[in-house]
Amino acid sequence: IGRSVRFYQSTGSTMDDAAEWACAGAEEGAVVVAETQTASRGRLGRRWISDEGNLYFSVLFRPEIDALPLLSPLAGVAVVRSIRQVAGLYPSIKWPNDITIGGLKVAGILAESAMSGSLIQQAVVGIGVNVALDVSTDAEIAATATSLNELAEPQVDRSELLRRILQHMDALYLDVRRGRSPIPEWRRWLDTLGQRVTVTHHGTSNVGLAEDIDDLGNLMLRTDEGELLTLTAGDITLRAA
Ligand code: BTN
Repeated sequence: IGRSVRFYQSTGSTMDDAAEWACAGAEEGAVVVAETQTASRGRLGRRWISDEGNLYFSVLFRPEIDALPLLSPLAGVAVVRSIRQVAGLYPSIKWPNDITIGGLKVAGILAESAMSGSLIQQAVVGIGVNVALDVSTDAEIAATATSLNELAEPQVDRSELLRRILQHMDALYLDVRRGRSPIPEWRRWLDTLGQRVTVTHHGTSNVGLAEDIDDLGNLMLRTDEGELLTLTAGDITLRAA
């Protein structure tokens, strides 16, 4: 991962750049990095602030079908390990894959894939890390997000952080291809288990206990009626109940 890298001072979204580059024959592990994005996106169609000073990049995969659900957890583990090493901070993961410190979001992960029939053509994993984000300009952001440089002393070296994340992704992806899943380590960083949560799914809300995750990273929610629901990340928002 990271043998081929494209850097843009400004682009729409590195998700689109990586997907287009994939169609033009980019090798697996190709990386697109941008200083700013004008059309960046988060999960569930949400916005993602893309001002200068933070880290925005996407990585191209051509995974076997079994590995597809593991790409996002793998990226989460790589980000947590790297923040620990480079910033000396101790992040958690909020299911499905928000990287948080003290309950505030420092990084987000977005996985998108394109299929042709039952074959995966490509998968793009995009990562945004708040390194120098100024959260004070927006009350909503200030209440939900933070950035590494607000918490870390000395300030974080962005290129070192990127290098580490790519190294860890590379090692974890090799593990996956050898049959070793990132899920056990990912589960260790999850702070959602054992909590009462509200899960909103296609407009309906379920309150229950976040009981466990399964081998693919799906959340198993025990509802107040005693039913065990298995929830996939895609179409869900989760908050403390
Ligand atoms: C989320 O938490 O909702 C996921 C946020 C993902 C943001 C990254 S920044 C690099 C890549 N390009 C995008 O447009 N989105 C991802």
